[in-house]
Amino acid sequence: MEKTLFVSLGKRSYPIHIGTDTLKTIGEKLKQHNLKERATIISTPYIFELYGSVVVKSLKDQGIDSQTVLVEPGEESKSLGKAAQIYDKLIGSKTDRFMPILALGGGVIGDLSGFVASTYMRGTPYIQLPTTLLAQVDSSIGGKVAVNHPEAKNIIGSFYQPRFVLADMNTLESLPEREYLSGLAEVVKYAFISADDFLDYLEKNISGIMAKETDVLTEIVLRCCRIKGKIVEEDERDYGLRAVLNFGHTIGHSIEAVSHYENYRHGEAVAIGIMGAALVSKIKGYADDKLVSKVRNLLTSMSLPTELKEVSVKDILEHIKLDKKVVEGKIQFVLLKAPGEVIIESVDSKTIEKAVKQLVKEGARA
Ligand code: GLY
Repeated sequence: MEKTLFVSLGKRSYPIHIGTDTLKTIGEKLKQHNLKERATIISTPYIFELYGSVVVKSLKDQGIDSQTVLVEPGEESKSLGKAAQIYDKLIGSKTDRFMPILALGGGVIGDLSGFVASTYMRGTPYIQLPTTLLAQVDSSIGGKVAVNHPEAKNIIGSFYQPRFVLADMNTLESLPEREYLSGLAEVVKYAFISADDFLDYLEKNISGIMAKETDVLTEIVLRCCRIKGKIVEEDERDYGLRAVLNFGHTIGHSIEAVSHYENYRHGEAVAIGIMGAALVSKIKGYADDKLVSKVRNLLTSMSLPTELKEVSVKDILEHIKLDKKVVEGKIQFVLLKAPGEVIIESVDSKTIEKAVKQLVKEGARA
């Protein structure tokens, strides 16, 4: 079973294929895209061990050679140093700009591979083969590719769209539970920022979501890709609408940063950030108690955290103030008025402080 949708960006348009056992079709799909030259697969040792043979065989069956570059998992691999090692390999193997790069893995692999693809020979084709829920619903779509600088995440990068995205639901079976749940936080984000019936769908399918039922997963990934794809079509270069994708990320990023990316997975921090954004929306008079409860209930029904702990409120507030979204002492926030109705507004630091303190008290509800 495979479903396909398209991101329409003129000459940079591309399909997203979602289904089960889809990795087996990578060779055929490369050929359909006229990418028949040797492919470079970039992956982690663990993911390549699990899925590398399927990908390599599919390529071979279509007469496509491949080489592999393995990088260690984790944010540290999103570095210029790692990119340079990959350039060495590409140059050493005489890779030219018609030979595709396949990003087989999660967000780190996708971002690093996309960055290398966007710069090597001024741009080589690349394909996203996301193997985590987070990458399937979020980071593999949209074309933002980057590596980190020791002083700032994702600061060195570009906009560079993949030729296609191929998401195989089977890969989610091997995903550790905590990573899966972390990916669900982005799914919750989409449900609240989109004005369709996605939120209803999630609320009605909690047991299928928690049991990782294939049909439910396929539907979720499809819907998230559709929502993100539409936003990217409107605002590819992030000058306006794309900011709604930051729902839950202002407080979320600060939680991650002050805990040195150790205590919380990205999605866990985003889940708490979504709760925080709902509380800010309530304090600002946009959201009522019912809406705040709806946010809390959906997050907790997916075993996602809503409570801030082990991080100091003061550190969070200081970090938010240092953030690039601060304009004249006010912080740009994506606020919720109703499901599917968000606004971007400057919020003063007192209001944020109040909401962050309430996040600590969320624990008392449990
Ligand atoms: N690569 C993630 C994005 O473009 O949003």
